[in-house]
Amino acid sequence: MFQHTPISRKFTIQDRIVVFYGNCLDLLRSIPDNTLQLVVTSPPYNIGKEYEKKLDLKKYIAQQADVIAECVRALSDRGSICWQVGNYVDNGAIVPLDTVLYPVFHDLGLKMRNRIIWHFEHGLHCSRRLSGRYETIIWFTKTQEYVFNLDPIRVPQKYPGKKYFKGPKAGQYSCNPLGKNPGDLWIIPNVKSNHIEKTDHPCQFPVELVERLVLSLSNEDDWVLDPFLGAGTSIVAAIRHNRKGAGAETVTKYVDISLGRIQQEIAGVLKTRPMNRPVYDPEEAGNSLRLPPWDKQQSDTQMKLLEMLDEYDIK
Ligand SMILES: C[S@@+](CC[C@H](N)C(=O)[O-])C[C@H]1O[C@@H](n2cnc3c(N)ncnc32)[C@H](O)[C@@H]1O
Repeated sequence: MFQHTPISRKFTIQDRIVVFYGNCLDLLRSIPDNTLQLVVTSPPYNIGKEYEKKLDLKKYIAQQADVIAECVRALSDRGSICWQVGNYVDNGAIVPLDTVLYPVFHDLGLKMRNRIIWHFEHGLHCSRRLSGRYETIIWFTKTQEYVFNLDPIRVPQKYPGKKYFKGPKAGQYSCNPLGKNPGDLWIIPNVKSNHIEKTDHPCQFPVELVERLVLSLSNEDDWVLDPFLGAGTSIVAAIRHNRKGAGAETVTKYVDISLGRIQQEIAGVLKTRPMNRPVYDPEEAGNSLRLPPWDKQQSDTQMKLLEMLDEYDIK
């Protein structure tokens, strides 16, 4: 569907893919009211990354509020906004950004539908507090009549063979054969150096995380917008599922990364981690690095078993 689709550099309603180089407020102001079905983003966290200037927290929240208000204006009545955030850290003290941004969405009249916990295993090792191993996605809708497609994001049931054992449905399978609701705790690896999707962008979110939101909160041909586009992940997820994708980015090298990834996605060659692949379990995989070389117990057990050989009738 996207094979000969041009990537437009400014928004017009006839386009299918828009990568805007500049401030997201300028892109948003060019989008008519009630146009977007899904806004999904991971904004700067105000922690002094290479693409941001650390601001006083109040000023940061005010800046975010301006962007959020424009997103709400351009959002369709059946639309959703998903803001994926972690912690703002000030001298070792953390402020979970979802807690300070919630009032902004609430005051704009949005309804919160879920606060999704995104759990991952890798990150900084803290020495003065517990290491952070989750971030959140706060999902809001503009009205009560919002799009929510559960079937495309169902996950395998734990006991697919389970049946009703009494009552009028006795003997029938008790669970939905399409799978179960994935719940609000998502275990998805984050994009660190050995992740297949890693680019030079320091803070990508994984395509599979956005795919779930695109599939459940929009329909084909709807507009998906990411105001803080980074490496283009949200547009990649939109294209993959036949949605239109738009985003803004202020740093040239990230715009170039986005354009490259989008072109690869259109050509069908972008490598991503597949949605719903179980997380790698080193123990199950028999990874030898699981055996601590300084722990003598493992080899001692082996020795003891060898010593006991006499007790068995082994020919
Ligand atoms: C956390 S990153 C987003 C990463 C993205 N989710 C991905 O998967 O690649 C935030 C991005 O917002 C960009 N940014 C910061 N302020 C911006 C603004 N006012 N308008 C557009 N982009 C902005 C930064 O350069 C950075 O690339």
